[in-house]
Amino acid sequence: MIIMEVENNIILAMDQMNVIEAYDLCETLSKYINTIKIGYPLTLSEGLESINVFKENFDFKIICDYKVADIPETNSKIAKLTFEAGADSLIVHGFVGSDSVEACINQAKVYDKEIFLLTEMSHPGAKMFLQNVADEIAKMGVDLGIKNYVAPSTRIARLSTIRNIVGDDSFIISPGVGTQGGDPKETLKYADALIIGRSIYESKDPELAIKEIIESIK
Ligand code: XMP
Repeated sequence: MIIMEVENNIILAMDQMNVIEAYDLCETLSKYINTIKIGYPLTLSEGLESINVFKENFDFKIICDYKVADIPETNSKIAKLTFEAGADSLIVHGFVGSDSVEACINQAKVYDKEIFLLTEMSHPGAKMFLQNVADEIAKMGVDLGIKNYVAPSTRIARLSTIRNIVGDDSFIISPGVGTQGGDPKETLKYADALIIGRSIYESKDPELAIKEIIESIK
């Protein structure tokens, strides 16, 4: 099931380490976005409960990017805690195998939430190991009935391959645009939404930065 209509096809990656900074950015950008991604930098600095700051004050969907990659029993606890804290969805690594992924799917069902399966990552190091098994990870996701995926904007041919595997009825979100070199418009030929962090929150003028990206993908 597709859980989100991502406004302007942009998911804001909130990798700041200070909740007030992150909050201020959300205030500035809330008229352009409805989905944010919270990862370890903010959570480890400010606590899991900081998810609620964004849940209560903004009409946002929240994706927690915890790249969950443990044994099933531990994955299950991580997913439970994350969903109870208010996350709408959770990014889960696929390389750990179907039992570990299924543990997160089961918790998502309990809370009526969603998981995103991470296939191949966007950074150069992903070519060393993960890329070799990414197609298999995507196929495993299809076999498990998963409809939400993460795939890289930095390697369009790989993104296109993963789209072919997961099908047009799946929802792909794609990091790597901007600072890591991915092109927004090209990425959206294969992905449903862009994950963008630094090229917005490190910009001197984040509002102008997001407006320019929105303009470029029209
Ligand atoms: P930047 O600053 O590069 O931020 O725009 C990108 C965001 O996405 C995360 N990231 C990934 N997450 N799979 C993921 O699940 C990936 O391949 C991947 N690559 C980048 C990164 O942590 C940051 O939050």
